[in-house]
Amino acid sequence: MSNKTFYITTPIYYPSGNPHIGHCYTTVACDSIARYKRMQGYDVMFLTGTDEHGQKIEEKAAEQGVTPKQYVDDIVKIFKNLWSYMNISYDRYIRTTDDYHVEAVQKIFKALYDKGYIYKGEYKGKYCTPCESFWTESQLDENGCCPECHREVKEAKEESYFFKMSPFAERIEKLLLETDYLRPKTRAQELVNNFIKPGLEDLCVSRTSFKWGIPVTFDEKHVVYVWIDALSNYITALGYENSAHNDYEKFWPADVHMVAKDIMRFHAIIWPAMLMALDLPLPKHLAVHGWITFNGQKMSKSLGNVIDPLVLGERYGADSIRYHIMREMALGSDSSFSNKIMIDRINSDLANDLGNLVSRTVAMVIKYFDGTLPADREADELDKELISMAESLRANVDKYVDETQLNNALAEIFKVISRANKYIDETAPWVLAKDESKKARLATVLYNLLESIRISTTLLSCFMPTTMPKVWEQIGAEEGLITYENAGKFGVLPANVTVKKGEVLFPRLDIDKETEELNAILLKNAPASEDVDKANLTPISDTINIEDFGKVDLRVAEVKSCEKVPKAKKLLCLQLDDGFGTRQVVSGIAKWYAPEDLVGKKIIVVANLAPAKLCGVESQGMIVAADVGEDARVIFVDKDIPNGSKLR
Ligand code: MSP
Repeated sequence: MSNKTFYITTPIYYPSGNPHIGHCYTTVACDSIARYKRMQGYDVMFLTGTDEHGQKIEEKAAEQGVTPKQYVDDIVKIFKNLWSYMNISYDRYIRTTDDYHVEAVQKIFKALYDKGYIYKGEYKGKYCTPCESFWTESQLDENGCCPECHREVKEAKEESYFFKMSPFAERIEKLLLETDYLRPKTRAQELVNNFIKPGLEDLCVSRTSFKWGIPVTFDEKHVVYVWIDALSNYITALGYENSAHNDYEKFWPADVHMVAKDIMRFHAIIWPAMLMALDLPLPKHLAVHGWITFNGQKMSKSLGNVIDPLVLGERYGADSIRYHIMREMALGSDSSFSNKIMIDRINSDLANDLGNLVSRTVAMVIKYFDGTLPADREADELDKELISMAESLRANVDKYVDETQLNNALAEIFKVISRANKYIDETAPWVLAKDESKKARLATVLYNLLESIRISTTLLSCFMPTTMPKVWEQIGAEEGLITYENAGKFGVLPANVTVKKGEVLFPRLDIDKETEELNAILLKNAPASEDVDKANLTPISDTINIEDFGKVDLRVAEVKSCEKVPKAKKLLCLQLDDGFGTRQVVSGIAKWYAPEDLVGKKIIVVANLAPAKLCGVESQGMIVAADVGEDARVIFVDKDIPNGSKLR
């Protein structure tokens, strides 16, 4: 085995519900990188797993009348089944209920205590149960709710252990601003402004009010805070402070931790602080991606808008789904999932561009040369661009894989595939075939096509591992020829290569019919509204009479302009046309909407609400939004309703 190592991790998932396509993104992306690095000759450790402790799991298990361990055991099976279906080649799967992890976390907690970074105190503050997070008064949102999910928080006062974070503030600030730890780097300043500049607060790291966690060895009524437990997985899985594994020296520090934006803070601030306190090296990169959204909302079980990857996979194959989600997500932005866009993409990129290129090329070798190319060659100027693009493809893909920009890596591969299709049109093999004296030229054209296919599909096989071997069989690429080394050079297939007709790789879809059918299937499979997590719905308020309702003046208004409120990360300041003139409203929706998402849209405003100042900016009314699971969603109305129309 090579002495170059590569360690990549996904977050460990909460087994509190079935996994959905949103969970697939990180895992599929990490899998593709892991495969690529293995192909490059690295000794790879790809870690994933489940984060199984915490109050939420304890409560869900109690609701179902089973023990927390029984509850998580069942869901872990579903996760593992999905990963096997999606061809996830993880090297290790950690469960935070594994004995070795429990033992190691206890030792980590004790080590932090012995070093003086963990001390006992009294916690007075607010606790958000769904997020398992403590907040101080100053961190709450403008409604006094959890700043992450905007749900109600509970008063909490109990004896707790605290982790002193302030000694690491300066180093963490440097890590974020001066190194390329965080990707994309654009998020670094926001983290520093929000969490470090105001003073890094000590973190409450133990709980006494529930039992489903790792007990603190020297004070057994406390269990370790789930995030301390969870983040430690990245080193305990390697054997840190335990004897179940022996890979810590070999693989730590990690090359890439990949996470979505909602858990960036834990990985960008708390995890480095823990490692600094333990005197351990820091991971090299934290790659943060956005969410897969559906109809503009984060896909999540509590919203009832989850897309089951198995349903999609059954219809289009796991590889197509892998391709689609990776191609759509640009690092740092959200990616909106749409059946139509997915079907379009499968059709245009996979069926038309790739599938067609392979089937046309193979069919022409069979038709013009009975399946085996003659060895004579005749080059032409026309070949140069295709050959040079194919030869430089590997270096371009390397770069994007190293930068965790997988959408761009795929785009590069498909540029060569498109160029090869264009080369068929330019060289017109069917014309060459008519002229006996052009046989050598025809063979050259077809050989160049086969080579372009070999190079692009070798690289693509890390992203789409099951389909590419079928291509290699068709183009006559013996197994030994498919290597990373060969992907960097042109002219590897034998000159007299023999091709073989094979199955259609990606059947062409009738876009309208397919979209309609898929919409219907997903609708049928969507959880019935009664299955949607009722626990997340706020109870209906006390009855009011019609006069009470009449006091609220709701109007339709159009967003004319919108900008972020400086120094208030949650607030947007909107200028509205309410039919009577311009009205300024400040709204705490910056987490879900960028200003450009709102400009030009029509919304509903509570027009007779007494003006108030939010972070020093006057707000004349309030925008109507819905609490949807952990998110807030603005209610948009039809464009043809005039501004100022009153709701009744
Ligand atoms: N258990 C913690 C992670 C601990 S890591 C030390 C957790 N688990 S989670 O199951 O809630 O989420 C796991 C990952 O899936 C997170 O990165 C989360 O953001 C991501 N996603 C969940 N829904 C998603 C989408 N709709 N789109 C993209 N990623 C999504 O957080």
